[in-house]
Amino acid sequence: MRQQLLFEEVKYLKQKKVSKRKLPDWEYFDKLVINRALNRKIVSFQANKKVPLYRWFKFKEAYSTQLVDYCLDYTFNKKMDVNKVLDPFSGIGTTITRSYEKGLSTTGIEILPVANAVAKARLSSYKADKKLFIKNLNKLESCNLSNPSGKYNFQHIRITKGAFSKKTETELSAYNDFLEKIEDETTRYLFWFASLAILEKISYTRKDGQYLRWDHRARRKVRSSFEKSKVYQFKPALLNKLKELLDDINNHSSNKIENNRVNIIEGSSLKDMFQLQENTFDVIITSPPYCNRYDYTRTYALELAYMGYNDEDVKLLRQKLLSATVENKSKYDELYNIYKKENKIDEFQQVNEVFSKNSLLNNALSYLKKKNENKELNNKNIISMVHNYFFEMAFIIKNMSKSIAPNGRIFMVNDNVQYAGYSIPVDFILSNFASEFGLSIEKIWVLPNGKGNSSQQMGKHGRNEIRKCVYVWHNKE
Ligand SMILES: C[S@@+](CC[C@H](N)C(=O)[O-])C[C@H]1O[C@@H](n2cnc3c(N)ncnc32)[C@H](O)[C@@H]1O
Repeated sequence: MRQQLLFEEVKYLKQKKVSKRKLPDWEYFDKLVINRALNRKIVSFQANKKVPLYRWFKFKEAYSTQLVDYCLDYTFNKKMDVNKVLDPFSGIGTTITRSYEKGLSTTGIEILPVANAVAKARLSSYKADKKLFIKNLNKLESCNLSNPSGKYNFQHIRITKGAFSKKTETELSAYNDFLEKIEDETTRYLFWFASLAILEKISYTRKDGQYLRWDHRARRKVRSSFEKSKVYQFKPALLNKLKELLDDINNHSSNKIENNRVNIIEGSSLKDMFQLQENTFDVIITSPPYCNRYDYTRTYALELAYMGYNDEDVKLLRQKLLSATVENKSKYDELYNIYKKENKIDEFQQVNEVFSKNSLLNNALSYLKKKNENKELNNKNIISMVHNYFFEMAFIIKNMSKSIAPNGRIFMVNDNVQYAGYSIPVDFILSNFASEFGLSIEKIWVLPNGKGNSSQQMGKHGRNEIRKCVYVWHNKE
């Protein structure tokens, strides 16, 4: 197994005739540990599918509460005093609400409004009034949704046009009239959230990482041959979702939330980690976007449009996210200006130097450039994407190294990636940044079954496994 996992790197070393001791990052091979307690289900949204409060919205990029429990338990066993938890890419809030449920104080930073809306719904549910919820649910059951007032119409963006049948769109409008009449703010929010959470189900689209896949029945010029298993009717899907919410609210062990123990910063961790106090967080559990071209703004386009985002807003948002798509532009100037304004140019230069001298990254970039010159790279912007991804991650890791408390642990979930047949050791590159910023690399947990490469890549370059990992970094100071 170990042999198999290391295949790519060993092949590389042989080609380069480099003695393993001479390669600066060789040390990280010894940190790789296949962790059989972890699997792809736990390190993804799959394991949340039946977990009350966490099953409400299919956020495919999330990990499970079980993973958060596992990381917290690991830390509890190593560190006496654990109080504060941070997740700089908090998504739908798995880390922060799970840690909160365990009595800890938590902070999350998240830029995608859709993800924040899900976390907020879970937090609102802690203070929901069950009687009011049931009263409105009963009202909705007998409500006719075929005659909207016309006040609300779903405002499509270019990439969502034709996503719903006319009937569904009419019912969505009428439902928004219904929402207006709910007086209690928390109940109204949860009822609105229920409609947000079913948009994919009632549409002719399916979320597919880089974009939305379209069912052939959609009212669109470009016909597709894809057929979604089922396109749900609006009202039954909505009632089901609301009943699921109610079941989970009914089963809450506590319905009080101390707001000061959960803090979600709706912004970019590239900017907002500056606000965090240094040496403060005992645990960081996080998963940044992977360097895999997945575009959250396309995947969640229906929800963004429902939340009032227009084409321009979505474009701007795409650029604010950590660079992980071929469309992302460099944030060098923006970051430089932030550090300049904060009087931290020395720090900017330190981070830039750590990024620039990483030999594994430089080798990967040279390889991709060569492939591009030979017209063997299917999109030349993959080079800038890889470059920008690691540049930005260097800043994130620097800030994590500052905000982690002495003896604290950082857990980061990420996948290695492969382009033009070259597997980029994301785990080693990011661990090198962490180590340069003073963290010690405790372990790199490797999932027993990694990911295969894409079918396109497999055809060309054969099958090889790409490591899916959870890195464990330790602030030994
Ligand atoms: C892999 S997901 C994390 C999911 C999370 N662990 C959960 O369980 O929901 C990565 C998240 O990073 C967010 N993100 C991307 N760029 C960001 C940035 N600059 N600042 C903060 N969050 C960002 C994405 O919107 C996405 O929700």
